[in-house]
Amino acid sequence: MRAPTKQLLCALFCLSAATLVVNAEIYYEENFDDDSWENEWTYSEHAGIEFGKFVRSSGAFYNDFEVDKGIQTTQDARFYALSRKFTPFSNEGKNLVIQYTVKHEQHIDCGGGYIKLFNCDLEPKQMHGETPYEIMFGPDICGTETKLVHVIFSYNGKNLVMNKEIRCLDDIYTHMYTLIVKPNNTYEVLIDNEKIQSGELEADWNFLPPKKIKNPEVKKPEDWDDRKTIDDPNDEKPEDWDKPKLVSDPAAIKPNDWDDEMDGIWEPPMIDNPDYKGEWKPKQIENPNYKGVWIHPEIDNPEYKSDDKLYLRKEICAVGFDLWQVKSGTIFNNILITDDIELAKEKAEAIWDPRYEGENKMKEALDVEERIKKGLDIETAEDIEFVKDNKEDEDEEDDEEFDKVHDEL
Ligand SMILES: *[C@@H]1O[C@H](CO)[C@@H](O)[C@H](O)[C@H]1NC(C)=O
Repeated sequence: MRAPTKQLLCALFCLSAATLVVNAEIYYEENFDDDSWENEWTYSEHAGIEFGKFVRSSGAFYNDFEVDKGIQTTQDARFYALSRKFTPFSNEGKNLVIQYTVKHEQHIDCGGGYIKLFNCDLEPKQMHGETPYEIMFGPDICGTETKLVHVIFSYNGKNLVMNKEIRCLDDIYTHMYTLIVKPNNTYEVLIDNEKIQSGELEADWNFLPPKKIKNPEVKKPEDWDDRKTIDDPNDEKPEDWDKPKLVSDPAAIKPNDWDDEMDGIWEPPMIDNPDYKGEWKPKQIENPNYKGVWIHPEIDNPEYKSDDKLYLRKEICAVGFDLWQVKSGTIFNNILITDDIELAKEKAEAIWDPRYEGENKMKEALDVEERIKKGLDIETAEDIEFVKDNKEDEDEEDDEEFDKVHDEL
């Protein structure tokens, strides 16, 4: 009885394995295709904060009105806290890819655009800014100072920010953000499918204390002379050096109508003394006793313990947006959490490339229309034709892109 069962199992299993090509796993994917997200995601009800609402929208300009719909923040000057649990997984021994799109179509002034991954301890209704998370990733913009991509890992109860700064994009179009964490403790960050930062986890975050420290037993010798030059002992201040900084103007003449009784005693105005030489300083000569810069000798740090599993997240169980936005309007979409770098790349190309192009075209056309409506100085006939042509192209392309995206998805 055993053999046929095995065969049957293999037939089923091998078939599905072949369809998946490799053992790629999609842990979570969300494209906000319809309104069902409202039942699956949970708004926080954390006391004392009135959280902002999201609506499903493709925004004011898009490549495809339907496909491009993600969730958009709708209220200014609000905290947002929305999350969703899924079947827990661990990235042990595997790549971890976190990818999603952000569109700040509102000309964002100050606001988060990042995503957080949580373990199963997350209580979605209690989620707030201090809720512990596993990874935080994505753009954060505030004024002209803060324009960066956060990559924060929690480690032994601490949130570790990156030692390098990755700049984010602050324009109004959709951008694809991808974080890849590899089991050999390396990482990559991609924006719009282009690698913009990569390296080793240990080097770019303070997961571990430094490997080497300055030897606390050794001090710089007191007679260590690290002055490269010294005052020339043979140089002396010339006797006629000191002159006042200001002198009375010899060319000034007492005005004819000056009345000593009324105006007080006349004094000529002061001017810079052309003979003034400033403070005297002796000449500098090379220090014959110069020993060079003292280098503090280093020793192995007794506190250092290596960890070859810095990349490891034992349990990832939820994804969420925990943000503050001054000006709302950000659209999040196409969340993908997988172990398959190639798959993520293919999806990113299929989603981002046409969307970015379409959004740009539509925005351009809208801007021209807007200017015409306002009756601004437009070379009317030509520009109106331009708008029309563009629209027609766009409509055709829309259909093509729609089919393409759907096929690929
Ligand atoms: C980490 O693994 C990747 C392959 O996934 C490889 O290209 C890279 O060289 C490895 N890096 C280190 C530091 O081992």
